[in-house]
Amino acid sequence: MIKVAVLGYGTVGSGVVEVINTNNASIAKRVGEEVQIKYVLDLREFPGDPVEKVLVHDFETIVNDPEVDIVVETMGGVNPAYDFSKRALEAGKSVCTSNKELVARHGTELMKIAKEKSINYMFEASCGGGIPIIRPINTSLTADEIDEISGILNGTTNYILSKMSSDGSDFEDVLKEAQAKGYAEKNPEADVEGYDPCRKIAILSSLAYEQFVDYQDIYTEGITKITATDIKYAKEMGTAVKLVATSRKTDKGIYAMVSPVMIPASHPLYSVNDVFNAVFVHGNMLGDAMFYGSGAGKLPTASAVAGDVVDIAKNLHHTVMMGWSEEKLELLPIDEVESRFFVRIKGSVAEKLTAVEAAFGKVETISLPGVDGEFAFVTETLTEAAYKAAAEKVEGIISMIRARI
Ligand code: HSE
Repeated sequence: MIKVAVLGYGTVGSGVVEVINTNNASIAKRVGEEVQIKYVLDLREFPGDPVEKVLVHDFETIVNDPEVDIVVETMGGVNPAYDFSKRALEAGKSVCTSNKELVARHGTELMKIAKEKSINYMFEASCGGGIPIIRPINTSLTADEIDEISGILNGTTNYILSKMSSDGSDFEDVLKEAQAKGYAEKNPEADVEGYDPCRKIAILSSLAYEQFVDYQDIYTEGITKITATDIKYAKEMGTAVKLVATSRKTDKGIYAMVSPVMIPASHPLYSVNDVFNAVFVHGNMLGDAMFYGSGAGKLPTASAVAGDVVDIAKNLHHTVMMGWSEEKLELLPIDEVESRFFVRIKGSVAEKLTAVEAAFGKVETISLPGVDGEFAFVTETLTEAAYKAAAEKVEGIISMIRARI
């Protein structure tokens, strides 16, 4: 029998217990022996919950028990999750986690310890919740050179942007509604400022390009400045505004970035709405592929964590190799990244076009019926540095969104 300890009985941890208990027979068949939860660690009490039988409050009970082979870390945050994960690995216990913050910060070190001990540190649930994406990159797309990953990797912001688009509402109003319904956290900063998808694209990029990508190097912009009027323009142009986390190989190097982007209807990410996530991958042989599904929530995330438990159980004394190396990938400086830019500006086309084209080069203009005193334009492809320099030369810019058109 393979014995598992779960650290943290919150949403995901309780989901993992539910998945392993509900599907116990089929999991046993796949692994070749039974997988049993021996401990659940949490500081709280859960009176009346069957978890009481296996509940412990002290990590030492787990780390010192030679029967425990697999530790599931679903505590979230960096501390004490980092300390517990490291100690479990050093004690020869494999670890799997849904904790993107910890993987993005300390994944390199934790994987190294796992390799030295011939065990595993796995994190399928850290990106895209229940969507299988880490294992496909790691074990299926291995004959390809991946040259792009573009993901909608945050359910909260995708819900907010989808709702702004369907209802014509402003960001603050939809955020309040989402918080009331429990779709957004009381402190939504990590989601709405893009920090959560930033960590996820750092993890996916480290695997895809086989070098460590530091999330702190990734240019990140959230959705707090997107307005109902921006979305009206986007619709008029046949696009949808999505918070996209991208990393891409270019002739100049690999860049990574998180920002709102106007996505045309022809792109697979356009139709990814509400709390769903999707990861679009382009490989030099594969061409396009998209992985779509539930990117958050108790059971989808727990399903991915429990999938890691099964994989670890099948590879108890053997490290399943991942491409992620210790060598750091130096990303292309953001100023050199190229894009088209959608820009709203005060004034009329007649008054401003000459000055706009003198600064930005040739542009396409868009005017919205019922939106007075301003118009919008889309530039040709420019570097971020060229955009910034041009934007300083013209008065009255209201907002800018990168456009993948
Ligand atoms: N806050 C995250 C989201 C949870 O909204 O997608 C899953 O990582």
